[in-house]
Amino acid sequence: MPMNTQILLDHRPTRKVSPANFRIVENPVPTPGPGEVLVRHQFLSLDPYMRGRLSDAKSYAKPQEVGAVMGGGAVGIVEASNNPGFKGGDAVVGMGGWQRYSVSDGNGLRVIDAKAIPIQAYLGAVGMPGVTAWYGLHRIIAPEKNETVLVSAATGAVGSVVGQLAKIAGARAVGIAGGPEKCAYAIRELGYDACVDHKSLRFAEDLKDALFNGVDGLFENVGGEPFQQALRRLNDFARVAICGLIASYEGPPTALPDMRVFLVRRIKVEGFIVSDHMNLWPQAIGELAALAAAKKLTWRETIRDGLENAPQGLVELLQGENFGKMLIRVN
Ligand SMILES: NC(=O)c1ccc[n+]([C@@H]2O[C@H](COP(=O)([O-])OP(=O)(O)OC[C@H]3O[C@@H](n4cnc5c(N)ncnc54)[C@H](OP(=O)(O)O)[C@@H]3O)[C@@H](O)[C@H]2O)c1
Repeated sequence: MPMNTQILLDHRPTRKVSPANFRIVENPVPTPGPGEVLVRHQFLSLDPYMRGRLSDAKSYAKPQEVGAVMGGGAVGIVEASNNPGFKGGDAVVGMGGWQRYSVSDGNGLRVIDAKAIPIQAYLGAVGMPGVTAWYGLHRIIAPEKNETVLVSAATGAVGSVVGQLAKIAGARAVGIAGGPEKCAYAIRELGYDACVDHKSLRFAEDLKDALFNGVDGLFENVGGEPFQQALRRLNDFARVAICGLIASYEGPPTALPDMRVFLVRRIKVEGFIVSDHMNLWPQAIGELAALAAAKKLTWRETIRDGLENAPQGLVELLQGENFGKMLIRVN
């Protein structure tokens, strides 16, 4: 009998997540019922928001259930379908979770074109992280030509798209990234005008030099000390999109400085969650897919092979060890 490998949350982490928080089980591959679709997964998405779901603290989404398959985005191929919206062989994206096969009633499952664009891009630049970049940049920062947009985690799944969209909008894009290799890639491949290494001892001075015109739009993905430095460079009427605070997910909370800066510089600060804006996803994905197909949008991936390596991959992502979109190839 064909078996389905599944990874369950065994118990919640108290501080840093570890592979010991998860457990692997084998169950028979399910048979899709009426109206249902069986999907064989090819890639799983690892995302920073997963850390929040592992906790049962009150948040914008329900916590991951203990003893259940770990939730998460997945792309794959339809193996069998009793749903008229899907047929065998369709490439699809959905929230199939950390398992080899998933069954869906079709809700939240979408057929994708995996010919012009690699299938796993629907978990990255042409998926949820891409839409996040699109929303925060276009709907919150809304840069005008020649304004300066500063992006933290500039080469990551979200940040790499923000930088490229900012350039397309005619802005000056400055990135913050961890290490010289990421910074070189940000400038050479993603088109950033400058990139500052937050691991360098000269970070504060280098950031000031790179931001010689200040910051009109700050796309914040990280928090922590680099965020404090970035706030010091805001221009009057700057817009700050709080997208994520990954440095604080397992570390100390990111504090706000003296609030006076927001008053005297007339700053707009807006936090956002991309899933609150589902009505805009078709437009955003349409634009991102067109850019990707025209080779005007690029990205990088860190791929770990093997479903069983998903827990370790999540640990690496939360430690910032990925370079580009973090994925698991299910083989
Ligand atoms: N609001 C929303 O709806 C939404 C949706 C998706 C993602 N997000 C948020 O957006 C941010 C980026 O997500 P992503 O999927 O694109 O991840 P990612 O940028 O691909 O990966 C995370 C990156 O964060 C950087 N980082 C800096 N300091 C870190 C620290 N102390 N610990 C861990 N990482 C650190 C690392 O890059 P460097 O080495 O370059 O610093 C790391 O590679 C996250 O905060 C995430 O929660 C929000």
